[in-house]
Formats: sequence, C-alpha cells, structure tokens
Amino acid sequence: MTGQLIDGIAIGKEIREEIKERVGVLVDKGCKPGLAVILVGDNSASRTYVKNKQKSSVEAGMKSELIELPDTVTEAELLEQVTRLNNDDSIHGILVQLPLPKHIDENLVIRAINPAKDVDGFHPENVGKMIIGQRSFLSCTPYGIIKLLERTGTEIKGKHAVIVGRSNIVGKPMGQLLLQRDATVTYCHSKTEDLAAFTKQADILIVAIGQTKFISGEHIKPGAVVIDVGMNRDENGKLCGDVDFASAKEVASAITPVPGGVGPMTITMLLKNTLHSAETACAEGKCSQ
Ligand code: GUN
Repeated sequence: MTGQLIDGIAIGKEIREEIKERVGVLVDKGCKPGLAVILVGDNSASRTYVKNKQKSSVEAGMKSELIELPDTVTEAELLEQVTRLNNDDSIHGILVQLPLPKHIDENLVIRAINPAKDVDGFHPENVGKMIIGQRSFLSCTPYGIIKLLERTGTEIKGKHAVIVGRSNIVGKPMGQLLLQRDATVTYCHSKTEDLAAFTKQADILIVAIGQTKFISGEHIKPGAVVIDVGMNRDENGKLCGDVDFASAKEVASAITPVPGGVGPMTITMLLKNTLHSAETACAEGKCSQ
C-alpha cells in the first residue's frame, strides 16, 4: 500500500485565497489587517520563519511590520515594544518569535501581549479558553493540522488519535482540539515506555517530537493517517520530519510530507487569526490605517 500524500501547500493555498478575499473586503471598508512580528537576535532559523510570515501576510494584502531587536535588548525594552503595538489600532496581530534570549522571561513577554491580538494563541487566556471550548485564538500549527484533516475528509469523531510530543505550542493543544472533535486522545512523549504499543493503536498519529526518524513504518497501524510536524535536518543537511517517510508511506493511508505538509499550514493559520482579529476590530469600529 502507498499512502495518499496530504498536500499542505495546495490546501494552504486554497485557504489563503479565501483569506485574501476577506482581507479585500476589510480594506474596502478602510480596515487593512496588520501583523507585527518582533524578532530578537540573529537566529537564522527564526529569521527564515519571520521572513516567510512577513511575505505571506503581504501576499494576503495585509500590512506587515517587522521589529528587529538586538539580542542585547532588555526585557523592559521588549515589553515597551509590545505595549506600543498593543495600543496601535493599525496592528491586529502581534507575534514575538520564539525562542528569546535566555535573559528574557518568555512567559512574561507572552502575557504582556493583548490577548485580543495574540494571533499565535500562546497567551494563557487564549490557552485557557481553548481548553474549556470558548472561542479563542488557536495555536497555529495544531489549528492548521485540524484544517488538513478536515479538508482531506479524515473522520476524527470516535477515532483514536495518538500525539507524540507534549510541547505547549503543538502537542498539548493538538490533543485538546482533537478531543473537542470527539477523538479519543493518547499523549506519548520521549519518556513513554513501549511507544510502538501506543502508536500502533492510532487511527490518527501526530508526531511532534523534534527528532529525525523517531517514527517509522513498524510504529504505524495499517491505514492510519500520519501527520509529521518535525522540521529537522538529516545527515546530508536535507530538511526532514520526525517520521521515516519511506517506510511510513507504505503503511499509512495518508501522510504529510516534509517539507510541504504541516509547515505551510502554520503560516496560513497565522494569517487566518490575524484576519479574524481585524474583522473583530473593524466590526467594533476600532480600526485605523
Ligand atoms: N518559534 C517556532 N515556532 C513558533 C511559532 O509558531 N510562533 C512563535 N512566535 N515562535 C515560534
């Protein structure tokens, strides 16, 4: 068996077209959505992610503001920027690219972002609302995975979803979003004993552990849908996920490639959250250009 490829580029493009149309409606009303990204220091991976986020927001018709700060910036200076953006009506989404330098308290910075502009969905208010099923900004990667599952017609209700990884950004919220859609959810992680005993039960297997080839064909139940969140470099410097694609695709009914699976969906959902924030501000008469 060879699994169907879940094409995140194509699905992301479809959703971005829908977003662009809705951005056009807002622009016509004088409410151009604005996304501000704060980049601290000179981490090359972060710089690439930020560049892609900016490019995509501009392509969607949004205003994009990049605030670059040196890695010597103080916590107070960074918080000052966040406050300025919180008070800027032309900005609807604020994203502080992580990781931050060690001398800055990441949680403090996240808590300083106005929850109504927290398009990453990292603020404790948004995380709490998500868990109790209230409307909130959803963390972009798990939100994007839900869209991938929905748009490929994958049944979630009643299915056993196994999440490998328990980060605050992906693993934990992923399980909650699947639970809300009536999946039975199991969390596995780096300390799980007999990992394969769990993963082999998964109808939907989500892997977000950050290790090359952590999961291969023998961990997977025949016919499972496999979502690979990993973004690693192999021994030749080639981009690869957490799943050994070659063996997994022989067992799975559908699988995301790396690159071209989850990655494009993460940025798409960031745009969707920013659009939603701008639509809310516009409806409340709070926008300016
Ligand atoms: N660093 C890695 N992924 C992310 C993300 O989704 N948002 C932010 N702010 N930083 C990140």
